[in-house]
Amino acid sequence: MNHRFHTRVCDLFGIRYPIVQGGMAWVSLAPLAAAVSNAGGLGVLGTSTMTPAEVRQNLDMMKDLTDKPFGVNISLISPTVEETVQIVIERKCPIVFTAAGNPKTYAKRLKQEAGCTLLHVTPSPRLAQKCLEAGVDGLVLEGWEAAGHISADEITSMALTPLVREFYDGPIIAAGGISTGRQMLAAMVLGADGIQMGTRFVAVKEGNSHPLYMELMTRQDPSYAKTAVYCKRYHPGRALKSPIVNRMVEMEMEGYSPQEIQALRGLRRAKFGCIDGDLNEGVFPAGMSSHFVKRVMTCQEVIDEIIGEAERELARVSAWMSRPTAARDAAENAQAAE
Ligand SMILES: Cc1cc2nc3c(=O)[nH]c(=O)nc-3n(C[C@H](O)[C@H](O)[C@H](O)COP(=O)(O)O)c2cc1C
Repeated sequence: MNHRFHTRVCDLFGIRYPIVQGGMAWVSLAPLAAAVSNAGGLGVLGTSTMTPAEVRQNLDMMKDLTDKPFGVNISLISPTVEETVQIVIERKCPIVFTAAGNPKTYAKRLKQEAGCTLLHVTPSPRLAQKCLEAGVDGLVLEGWEAAGHISADEITSMALTPLVREFYDGPIIAAGGISTGRQMLAAMVLGADGIQMGTRFVAVKEGNSHPLYMELMTRQDPSYAKTAVYCKRYHPGRALKSPIVNRMVEMEMEGYSPQEIQALRGLRRAKFGCIDGDLNEGVFPAGMSSHFVKRVMTCQEVIDEIIGEAERELARVSAWMSRPTAARDAAENAQAAE
């Protein structure tokens, strides 16, 4: 497919489309990451809940499943961060995304010893500045609409990319609330060079998520409000509304302390949801754009659909912009009068 969205993010990673699959705990294992890379995007292994042996195993699998570039996502607050960084250095992984915490701790080592291209996932301009001081090669700007852990700063994608664009002219990948071509185009108008999606890549044929998670993700909700933010005052997270998430939201309103809510949240709720498909005990991370995840598709179908829609929307906006002003005014007035 010919397309008009070749940007410097494509050159930075050596990929066809500026579409990154965000690293996802439990969910983005080798088969999913390889499928995204094979489809022309950038697949990313989510290592934050992997043991060191699992990280090695997934890296080995990637060698068999794709010859395309792929990335590794490392959570800097994972208990096994040190071991994962060591493996990434040993294997000289070329593309690394760090997330959570300050990238300064590992940036120098990763860049010098692994020789990798390093990006950090950041939800705020303040942290973006720290990332730049640490020497990252680009930023993933993740807005409040996103799935999973989000920032208490509550900055939406609509605001975040232009805020950071004011002081940074390097590669920016926008994340959070983007699942369609129209949203991708909007992100690029705001100043992004590419997009990162998590929610959209949960319900895909090559994924390992539990069928219930995929079903809940694709289920249409007439309220258009499928997700909720829980633990708002203490490491907020966004997920599909479910018994546990609803209870945590209620507890917050009833004035329970962050520690009491955190105790209910526990450590493995996302595994109970994503992998075990336990509706009552699990948390099912999802972003605000989950409404647009309407059926389970292959990664290639997802990417082709998004690029196709972005192309059509760009053509529509360009045609609208190139109409003579008087004709446009008349058309708008006629529409307003209807
Ligand atoms: C199940 C799930 C697990 C996630 N785990 C991680 C993670 O371990 N590290 C990380 O940086 N981001 C994680 N994310 C966030 C995604 O990488 C991505 O940035 C985010 O989903 C983008 O917003 P969207 O959901 O609106 O597309 C996760 C998202 C999901 C859906």
